[in-house]
Amino acid sequence: MEMDEPENVSVFETPEQLALAAAQRVALCEREFHGRQERFSLVLAGGNTPRRVYELLATAPFKQRIEWGEVDLFFGDERCVPPDHRDSNYGMAYQALIFHVPIPPHNVYRMAGEGGPEQSARLYESQLRTYFAGASWPRFALVLLGMGTDGHTASLFPRSDALNEAERWVLPVSSPAPPRERLTLTVPVFNHAAHVLFLVSGKEKAERLAQVLNPKPQTEPLPAQLIQPSSGSVEWLVDSAAAALL
Ligand code: 6PG
Repeated sequence: MEMDEPENVSVFETPEQLALAAAQRVALCEREFHGRQERFSLVLAGGNTPRRVYELLATAPFKQRIEWGEVDLFFGDERCVPPDHRDSNYGMAYQALIFHVPIPPHNVYRMAGEGGPEQSARLYESQLRTYFAGASWPRFALVLLGMGTDGHTASLFPRSDALNEAERWVLPVSSPAPPRERLTLTVPVFNHAAHVLFLVSGKEKAERLAQVLNPKPQTEPLPAQLIQPSSGSVEWLVDSAAAALL
């Protein structure tokens, strides 16, 4: 059940209802792009919250509803570990989604986290620049993002120089939490997306979520607050535990 909140925030009683709503939004967005004969470029989030969304997308009715041959999968960030490492965002998405759906392997654009961070960042950026041939910034159809208890999103952490990046699409960064070496898409990339969907669950996020959704003037914005697509939508799907202080 959704409760009243600012128009771009939807609150769901349970994490399962949040995940179902997120899967519905992904499927709806895919239909929007399918209807316009456009490729559906979907950026996956890492961490734990989106896992259940990916599992739902890999099962009926979503598995059958989505035209997987028209979907191109990307990653918002990655830990610099091999793809089969327990900390790999690709590994989580592969287990929960990719292995179970008929998406052609060449439609999956994995960040090669196992390579050197700088080299892998530049490789991924060149892949994106090829995919979005000639564009000054990529326009992803839909970006899924989570939020950490410190207000980070993707691997954009508070007080990081990466928050001010205005040229590069992909950066190597260091994380305060292990695995330390990571790759992340940058703020301008997220802000050129058509749709951004934040997924936030759990009482441990409640204080930070209230801060992010109620920005105070003259305070240093948190990374999640910087994600404001210039010509796109941003929506927050949160569960009641995370919304406790809204
Ligand atoms: C990652 C994610 C990260 C995540 C948040 C929330 O690589 O871990 O990109 O930004 O979305 O840390 O993680 P949870 O969903 O596990 O709370």
